[in-house]
Amino acid sequence: MMTNISQAALDDLMEEAKQAASHSYSPYSGFKVGAALRLVTGELVTGTNVENVSYGLTICAERAALVRAVSEFGPEIRIEAVAVANLNGAASPPCGACRQMLSEFIEPSAPIVFPAAGGTQMLSFDQLLPLAFDMKLSKTKT
Ligand code: THU
Repeated sequence: MMTNISQAALDDLMEEAKQAASHSYSPYSGFKVGAALRLVTGELVTGTNVENVSYGLTICAERAALVRAVSEFGPEIRIEAVAVANLNGAASPPCGACRQMLSEFIEPSAPIVFPAAGGTQMLSFDQLLPLAFDMKLSKTKT
């Protein structure tokens, strides 16, 4: 199931993602990514990828947007849609680490719009990450 969000709202979100990509700090890969999150309360929060000379410390655009959203609006946020863009004309679905991070705050039915091989693609979050890790602590002591 996919949440019904107007095409105009998704187009706006994609525009915000593109704007965010223009702020990318990516001197090592040259790959400029932007992400925009739409919260259920209507706020839009963007992020871009920030690389580091110690390559593994790089943070993706999607996670940058997520930590910004929690920092600005608190731990109760719920995400109802995500757009990802890059300025390289390449496919860029959210990476696995970003999917797992998003899973804590996103509606399973949220549309995720991203550049794919054949153009822009849209999947619901649960299609993008069908089996997120979710630790269920046992109620009984072992
Ligand atoms: N990148 C993102 O920002 N989002 C993704 O989902 C995948 C990759 C960034 C990380 C790095 O700065 C550059 O793209 C190349 O991997």
